Amino acid sequence: MSPPDGEADLGGAPCEGPVARHLLPDTAVVTGSGSLEVAGVDVVALAEEFGTPLFVYDEATLRARCREVVTAFGPGSAYATKAFLCRAMAELAIDEGLRLDVSTDGELGVALAAGAEPERIVFHGNNKSDAELSAGVGIGVGRHVVDSFDEIDRLARLLDDRRRGSRQKLLLRVNPGIEAHTHEFVATGQEDSKFGFSVATGAAREALGALRNLPGAEVVGIHAHIGSQIQRLEPFEKLAAVLTPIVAANGLAELCVGGGLGVAYLSDESAPTITEWAATVRAGCAAAGMPPGVQITAEPGRSIVATAALTCYRVGTIKELPGIRNFVAVDGGMSDNPRPVLYGSGYEAFLPRNVAAERPYPATIVGKHCESGDIVIAEARLPGDLAVGDILVTPVTGAYGFSMASNYNRVGRPPVVFVHEGRARLVVRRETVEDLLRLES
Ligand code: LLP
Repeated sequence: MSPPDGEADLGGAPCEGPVARHLLPDTAVVTGSGSLEVAGVDVVALAEEFGTPLFVYDEATLRARCREVVTAFGPGSAYATKAFLCRAMAELAIDEGLRLDVSTDGELGVALAAGAEPERIVFHGNNKSDAELSAGVGIGVGRHVVDSFDEIDRLARLLDDRRRGSRQKLLLRVNPGIEAHTHEFVATGQEDSKFGFSVATGAAREALGALRNLPGAEVVGIHAHIGSQIQRLEPFEKLAAVLTPIVAANGLAELCVGGGLGVAYLSDESAPTITEWAATVRAGCAAAGMPPGVQITAEPGRSIVATAALTCYRVGTIKELPGIRNFVAVDGGMSDNPRPVLYGSGYEAFLPRNVAAERPYPATIVGKHCESGDIVIAEARLPGDLAVGDILVTPVTGAYGFSMASNYNRVGRPPVVFVHEGRARLVVRRETVEDLLRLES
């Protein structure tokens, strides 16, 4: 079923077969009775116990992806906390040997609350406030990533005031002028971008010169992030080709290629692995003449957390409009997953009580919010015996769902459960009306 004329086409092609295995967490198993278990825990039972909507994260998948980053890129790499952050996630990433990339005082606060050592924090942001700048420099974050000339001026004043023994390590964020094939809202490497210093215009060279004269600072390397949900590796080859000469010419010790590796959201999609991504970056750097000993790092978010999680909803209403469409309404929506509305992102949906079921029933899955744009999946396929009261799952919701969740219509944000070796652990509880009212004076 196509959306009515004039509406954005949200999502990719629906598939009538069972949901593809590669969209599920590593430990997902279909039991003898056909239901879904993750980490040995029954998903329908989890939804009954913790309520819906509910984010379920498989700890083994999270850990495996963190380890893959450390193995492929090295321990100087970071987890981009914006993709999904709570104390438990930060603790896990630290435990697996990753640094934490933060870009606001909020992310910094959660990282510190999780026990991150300042030395293991990478502080980003295109418009850091004075408070954020001094918080980061004050504790001596491991890497401070500089994004604008105004920031250089403010840093100069701060570092001068501070007069401490050790020098603040800096990375310069450069804009390599590379257009990655992704949604325009999450593409950041093109010339027309608010991020970083352009290589092409000479701004990067000028900034590097200015930073080198900053007392109290040490420029250790450059950083670039060309966008997110990039499903092909060629842009990273180009990135290596643009950045390597800058690293070589300036005798820098470090190159961070940012995040951006895409994941598969739909059954017929695939994406490169973290290991393949790293191999491409390394080969590209080598081909461009990277001097030996330069540390090449990355800071992925989505590719670590996306596939580790799924969202459980309960079906509340099914409205069949003959000749128009079937609406299946769930008890969440754009407040727990704004990605379909923001970027036209596609997802799959299935019933965890019968994972292998064919999905012949075409439906638009909508949420409970008071607008027609509140769409979870524009063109979903569901089993024919779908009924009100069913628990419905959307997989691959671990990245930029919980972290971009809102209280629209004053709904409480959903809880987060980590499952591991047969046990479920509530790591973030559901927000209540009392929580919302607590903010009001
Ligand atoms: N480093 C920097 C400086 C970034 O800005 C980002 C993401 C990352 C690393 C991690 O990128 P990843 O590996 O997750 O692609 N809300 C959008 C994604 C925005 C990404 C913003 N920056 C979405 O839901 O698709």
